[in-house]
Amino acid sequence: MCGIVGYIGYEQAAPLLLQGLEKLEYRGYDSAGVCLNDGEKLVVEKSKGKLKVLKELTENGKTLKGTVGIGHTRWATHGEPSDVNAHPHLSDSDRFAVVHNGIIENYIQLKEHLKSKGIEFRSKTDTEVIAQLIEYYYKGSIIDTVIKVMSKLEGSYALGVISRDNPDEIIAVRKESPLIIGLGENENYIASDVTAILAKTRKIYRLENNEIAVLHRDSVKIIDTDKEEVRKEPETIKWDISAAEKGGYEHFMFKEIMEQPKSVHDTVAPRIKDGRVVLDEIKLSDEQLKNFDKINILACGSAYHVGVVAKYVFEKIIRKPVEVDLASEFRYRNPIIDEKTLTVVISQSGETADTKEAMKEARRRGSHVISIVNVVGSAIAVESDDVIYTWAGPEIAVATTKAYSTQLAVIYLMAIYLGDKLGTINENEYKTYVSELQELPKKITSILENKENIQYLASKSFNCRDVFFIGRNIDYALSLEGSLKLKEISYIHSEAYAAGELKHGTISLIESGTLVIALATHEELLGKIISNIEEVQARGANVIGVACENHPEMASVAQSTIFIPNTCDMFLPSLAVIPLQLFAYYVASLKGCDIDKPRNLAKSVTVE
Ligand code: F6R
Repeated sequence: MCGIVGYIGYEQAAPLLLQGLEKLEYRGYDSAGVCLNDGEKLVVEKSKGKLKVLKELTENGKTLKGTVGIGHTRWATHGEPSDVNAHPHLSDSDRFAVVHNGIIENYIQLKEHLKSKGIEFRSKTDTEVIAQLIEYYYKGSIIDTVIKVMSKLEGSYALGVISRDNPDEIIAVRKESPLIIGLGENENYIASDVTAILAKTRKIYRLENNEIAVLHRDSVKIIDTDKEEVRKEPETIKWDISAAEKGGYEHFMFKEIMEQPKSVHDTVAPRIKDGRVVLDEIKLSDEQLKNFDKINILACGSAYHVGVVAKYVFEKIIRKPVEVDLASEFRYRNPIIDEKTLTVVISQSGETADTKEAMKEARRRGSHVISIVNVVGSAIAVESDDVIYTWAGPEIAVATTKAYSTQLAVIYLMAIYLGDKLGTINENEYKTYVSELQELPKKITSILENKENIQYLASKSFNCRDVFFIGRNIDYALSLEGSLKLKEISYIHSEAYAAGELKHGTISLIESGTLVIALATHEELLGKIISNIEEVQARGANVIGVACENHPEMASVAQSTIFIPNTCDMFLPSLAVIPLQLFAYYVASLKGCDIDKPRNLAKSVTVE
C-alpha cells in the first residue's frame, strides 16, 4: 500500500527520494509525490499514475532543489487517485508538509472543526487534516505540536513531517503503521520499508508505537510523547540488496517462485536438530499445550489458504478441532474463543490491518497467539505472544509465492512438534514426517526443472475465459490458492470448488472448452476425484490434472496431466502449488499483464 521515504543530508534529496520510492513501488500505489525544502519554501511535485510520470515531470528529480525532503507513493483510500489527493500534503499557508501511511478514523470531525475556524482544504484525503492540525496548533515548537496533534488523531499513522522554517529537520512518527529510520554518515532517512533505503544504509532503528524521531543531518533522537528520550540499539539489516532486486529475472514473481527451494530450506533446516523439530519460539509448556481444546487460525488471502491447509493437517496430525477464519470476518462475529483456544495468525507482511485487529480480538478474549510472519519486527510479530518467522526473505511481487510455501512449511513443523508433544503421532510417523519435510526443497527443485511442460500448457490455455480449480480434502485447500494466483495476476475469472460440491450448482457453468484444473494428489480420494473429472469432461470440459508420479494411470484420465513427486499426503500442497504458481505466471505473461503489480492490488493491505 502507501510508501514513505524521507532524506536529510548534504546531497540533493529529490533523486534519492525518487530512487527510494521506486523500491516501494511493489507495495502498490496509484499516485506519487515529493516535497523539498529549497531553503526558502516548501516545493511540492506530485502526480497521479506511475512514478515514471513524476520522474518525467521533475527530470528525475533534477528540477527540484534541496537537501531535505519527503516522498510518498499513495494507494487511494479517502478520495480518488488524483494529483491533488497525492501526498505530500501542505498546511494552509504552505508552512508544513506531511506524508502519511495509515488511516485517520476521526478525520471528518477534525476537518469540520478546522473548517469552522476558516481553514480551507485542497484535497479529499484524511492526511491533509494532519498537515492542517500541525499548522493550527503550532506555537513555535514542532515537537510539542506533533505530540498535541497525536493526541487528537484516532487511527493508524506513520508520518514524515518537514517545515518551511526549518530546513534542518525531519520529524517522523509511528502509530500502528511501520516506520524505520535509516542511519547514514552525515545523512539520515525515514522509510516505511527497509527496501527503500537499503542501497544507502543497513543500519536502522525501528520506531515503536507512539515514538517520535527527530532527524538532523548528523543525529537522530527518538522520544516518547512525554518527550523522554528512548534509547535504542541500531539494528543491522543482514539481507543483501540483491534479495530485493530482480537478479536477471523478468519479474520478481518468477524470481520468487524459483527461490522456493531455498526459502523452504531456510525455514525448515534451522528448526530440525538431530532429527527432532525444535520450535523454541513456542513458549508454552507441555502442560499448557495439552490444555488447549481447539485451534483457531486467522489470516487473509493466500495466508488464509495456508490456514485452510493447516486445518486438514492439524486435525489429522494433532487431533484437535481447528477453525479457520478470514480475519476480516472474525472480529465482527462475536467469536467463541477463550484461554483454552490456541490462536495461530498467519501473515507475510505482519502488517495486514484485518489480521492484526483479529489477532488483538483473540488476545482480548484470553487466547494465546502464535504468529507466523515473514517481516521481522512487524506489528503482528511484535504484538503476538510467540512468533515463528518464515525465512523467505523479502517478497516483492504482489502475488505471494515463496511466503505461501514457507508458511506451509511452518505449519508442518508445528504439526509435527505438537503431534509429538500431545502424543498423537508415533515415533515412526515422526521420523517419516521429519525426513519428508527435509526432502521438500529437493522435490520442489525437480518440479521447477520441468517448468517448460507447464509453460506449454499455459500457452494452450491463456485465452480461456473461465477456469475451475477442483479438489478434495487437502487438494481442495490448495485449489483455493491455485485459483487466486491465476485470477489476481492474469485477470481470468477462476473459481475454486470442492470437487464433490460441484454438482450442487456450479457444474451448470461447465460447457464445451471450459478449463478445469483438477488436483488429484490425495490418494485416499483418488477414485472420487476421477469420477468428478469424468463428470466435467462429459459436459465438455478440458481437464488438466495434477497428480503424483506414483499414479501414472492419471495420464489417461485427464486431457493433460502434470506429475509431481510423491511425499506424505499432508505435505503434498507444498509440491502441487508449484505448477499452479507457474501456470498462473505463464498465462499472465502470455497475456502481457503487469505481473508484479496487478491492477487494484497492494502488497500489504494496511486498511480494513
Ligand atoms: C495473494 C496475496 C494476498 C495476501 C494477503 C495477506 O497473492 O498475496 O492474498 O496473502 O493480502 O497478506 P499478508 O500475508 O501480508 O497478511
